[in-house]
Amino acid sequence: MYQEFVDLLRQSSYCVVLTGAGVSTPSGIPDFRSPTGLYSKYPQEIFDIDYFYSSPASFYSFCKEVLLPMIDAQPNLVHEFLAWLEERGYVKVVITQNIDGLHQKAGSKDVVELHGNISRFKCDKCGKLYDHNWVRRELEKKAVPHCLCGGLIRPDIVFFKESLPWEAVNMAEMHSLSCDLMVVMGSSLVVYPAASFPILAKKNGAKLVIINNSETGLDFLCDLKIEKDLVEFCSQVWKMFQS
Ligand code: OAD
Repeated sequence: MYQEFVDLLRQSSYCVVLTGAGVSTPSGIPDFRSPTGLYSKYPQEIFDIDYFYSSPASFYSFCKEVLLPMIDAQPNLVHEFLAWLEERGYVKVVITQNIDGLHQKAGSKDVVELHGNISRFKCDKCGKLYDHNWVRRELEKKAVPHCLCGGLIRPDIVFFKESLPWEAVNMAEMHSLSCDLMVVMGSSLVVYPAASFPILAKKNGAKLVIINNSETGLDFLCDLKIEKDLVEFCSQVWKMFQS
């Protein structure tokens, strides 16, 4: 299975990696749907846009406790391995559902963020951008940050019922149609449209590999399923590339 994966990467001339929350659990960031994931402690509606506008103070309390600390997390071996693979030309692009920015921190250059990034905030009225440090300072003084224009400040992430940023979707579609190998790491593949990209790649003739420590929504479609811990798997594969 290790050798099969190494061979697929070596033979590929256009490999796209799609990542989910499972690549960041080794950095101490909880995923969503594992038994210990965020949805075991918080209702899924916390990421619903209607909830944000009806209870901004509750959302920001969750944001302060759970989302903002993601910015202080450090990349782990999986992020580092992916950056290394990109640098050596084995991986073309990482498409991620994560909002933690850890791929970029590890050195990945070509990253498509489907669900935004928690380090950016913006006014929902005038569009002025705010960085997370400013928001953190505001949250020390008040429950909800507001812009100078009076508008509510929101994180630049995608809530449920919102569309994904069109540039990110366009890029993800283009890469999915161009790749000959798509590798999905650490995603349950149940949230769309993110989960539609492996389907698109597969329909267009690419091979599909899924690496995840549990079942995913697209296991039936893949050419190779590796049911393992990502750090354990990537560290073995990395050694094989270097030997
Ligand atoms: P999920 O929590 O649904 O899936 C993460 C998967 O990674 C689970 O199947 C875990 O079993 C697996 N996993 C966790 N740690 C792992 C490890 N060390 N090694 C191998 N596998 C591991 O997260 P996503 O699929 O990313 O969207 O969730 C997709 C979207 O749902 C998120 O972007 C978010 C959420 O609601 C929005 O908020 C819009």
